[in-house]
Amino acid sequence: MKKYLYSLALLGAVIYSCSTQTKTSTSDAASTVATAAKAEHIRKGEEVFSQRCGRCHDLPSPSSFTSSEWKPIMERMAPKAKLTAEETNWVLAYVDANAKK
Ligand code: HEC
Repeated sequence: MKKYLYSLALLGAVIYSCSTQTKTSTSDAASTVATAAKAEHIRKGEEVFSQRCGRCHDLPSPSSFTSSEWKPIMERMAPKAKLTAEETNWVLAYVDANAKK
């Protein structure tokens, strides 16, 4: 009987530690997914930027402008480079991540 109680307590401890572990790893996974999605946007943005933004002038450096300076520039340049809304967001994510601080 003692042995039975002991294994029951052990089982409880295992279940408890598993359930708390699952909780943290779920939120970790969610933030990892969000970070991965952002990194993917930045990567695609860099690709679009280097392919489409150096046709009419030298490729500008993202760090030449602050994030708030890039917004109106991108509003003017996105139609010139014929970017889709999605491509514009990727390029914005890329220049934002590398903008002058
Ligand atoms: C069809 C030609 C063309 C394409 C494509 C183009 N640009 Fe431009 N860009 C210009 C012209 C013309 C100017 C100068 C006039 C102006 O600032 O509107 C300019 C100016 C700029 C400037 C200087 C702005 C300032 O205020 O000093 C930046 C930065 C810039 N472009 C970034 C980009 C980026 C980023 C892309 C890609 C999304 C891009 N350009 C694509 C024609 C283009």
